[in-house]
Amino acid sequence: MKTRLTEMLGIELPVMLAGMGGVSYSDLVIAVSEAGGIGTFGAAPMSTELLVEEMARVRAATSKPFGVDLLTASPDSVARNIRAVIEGGASIYVAGLGVPSEVVDELHRHNILVGSVCGKVRHAVAAVESGCDFVVAQGTEAGGHTGQIATMALVPQVVDAVKGKVPVVAAGGLFDGRGLVASLALGAEGVWMGTRFIATHEAHTGRGFKERMLETPEDGTVISKGYTGKTCRVIRTEWTNHFEQHPEELKPFPQQVMTAMQAGVQQLGTGPDVELDTNRAFMACGQAVGAIDAIKPARQVVEEIMDDARRTLKRLAAIS
Ligand SMILES: Cc1cc2nc3c(=O)[nH]c(=O)nc-3n(C[C@H](O)[C@H](O)[C@H](O)COP(=O)(O)O)c2cc1C
Repeated sequence: MKTRLTEMLGIELPVMLAGMGGVSYSDLVIAVSEAGGIGTFGAAPMSTELLVEEMARVRAATSKPFGVDLLTASPDSVARNIRAVIEGGASIYVAGLGVPSEVVDELHRHNILVGSVCGKVRHAVAAVESGCDFVVAQGTEAGGHTGQIATMALVPQVVDAVKGKVPVVAAGGLFDGRGLVASLALGAEGVWMGTRFIATHEAHTGRGFKERMLETPEDGTVISKGYTGKTCRVIRTEWTNHFEQHPEELKPFPQQVMTAMQAGVQQLGTGPDVELDTNRAFMACGQAVGAIDAIKPARQVVEEIMDDARRTLKRLAAIS
């Protein structure tokens, strides 16, 4: 399945692993890239040293392209991290909170493509103006920091607004081949998927998160500021319930992160050695969670998405 995005990134399938902070580490990145999509690190909570080590693991395991998502190009760490991304052999760089045009230029000088995750049409237009090569239109259904516009409404509006200058990638609530085909129908050229890939063997999470996902229905998430101080879609817990009832206790970002860390509920980046208290822990997760009933190898997830997409296209061809 070829689109402008797959051609541009040099990949076989229009499936991108979302850069999920604390979750998208080397095992998952390798698995998705090897399956023909593109794996993207969620490197926001990683030290530069860990990011360098993790990228080296990917390079040793596969020659397929991979990417790095740093959420934001914060000025203090930007130079160090951008250098690491360049030297680590990444092909794409993605940021959730905008990429300054000088950073775009520096990455372009090293043949690294730049993408921006956007929750509003005007953010996508600004990203294209600052030189980004693709934009991810992320609807409110998405896990993690998210906006208010639904994927179905956002994607075609972003497609229209960028006027074909760059490919648009759809994100938020997508978990199977029907979502991929629907995204293509809306004018997107690929999908950026997070939540579905958390419930895989390779995802890097504390113990209990994946199992908790299996029993969470589609209305089991909530947009809460309780863990970070910013609007973040997470599995509803006693912690989110508390701050729903006591919004006056919320602190702004990043102080709320410290509050959650001190309470032992913010363990982003914790691997399988740590058992999470899933009644209170930070488990960023999207509305697609209700559809997830098994923890699978990431390759199988990619294969199932593509089989399902082909079946869906046949079904549509039969009724057209
Ligand atoms: C656990 C988790 C962590 C995330 N961390 C980041 C991040 O560090 N940077 C970022 O740009 N987006 C982050 N996101 C958002 C994803 O990149 C992506 O846009 C989203 O997962 C897509 O929607 P979906 O979860 O419905 O597939 C995160 C999402 C999840 C679920």
